[in-house]
Amino acid sequence: MSLKIEMGRKRIDLCKIIEFPVVHDHRGNLTFIEENKHVPFEIKRIYYLYDVPSGAVRGGHAHIELHQLIIALSGSFDVIIDDGYQRKSFFLNRPHYGLYIPPGMWREIENFSSNSVALVLASELYDEEDYIRDYEKFRKMVREGFWDESD
Ligand code: TYD
Repeated sequence: MSLKIEMGRKRIDLCKIIEFPVVHDHRGNLTFIEENKHVPFEIKRIYYLYDVPSGAVRGGHAHIELHQLIIALSGSFDVIIDDGYQRKSFFLNRPHYGLYIPPGMWREIENFSSNSVALVLASELYDEEDYIRDYEKFRKMVREGFWDESD
């Protein structure tokens, strides 16, 4: 087993659940997120998935440079992360937790509950050139060490 493969196997641990502050109040709870403080990147874009039909799967791609953080603002869903060697599933169901995903991770989002809303904070503006939508191409890039410097 080469050193490069060993390194590749650890990349999935870069994906982590981040807990955000909660200001508890009898009028309702409040959570806030500040860039470079609660998320490890500058937030350039926000988008959200909603009205997701039962059984739908979103994602199915990796990013070259984009950092993202996914939050279940409402409802719940699973985020399946694949670093090219290992897969890990994260269940998101609370608005004060987010899943941080660095570049070079294949992701799929599935099992959306009804009325769920997935909020995504992103480090870059939308750029189709940053997407890898072919899983075999992604695996090849991982094997060639494309993201190894981020270990
Ligand atoms: P995509 O990122 O593939 O969706 P998901 O990963 O959630 O399944 O984006 C779906 C479409 O929406 C695609 O045609 C590009 C467009 N899009 C934008 O125009 N801007 C954006 O910020 C995003 C995230 C997507």
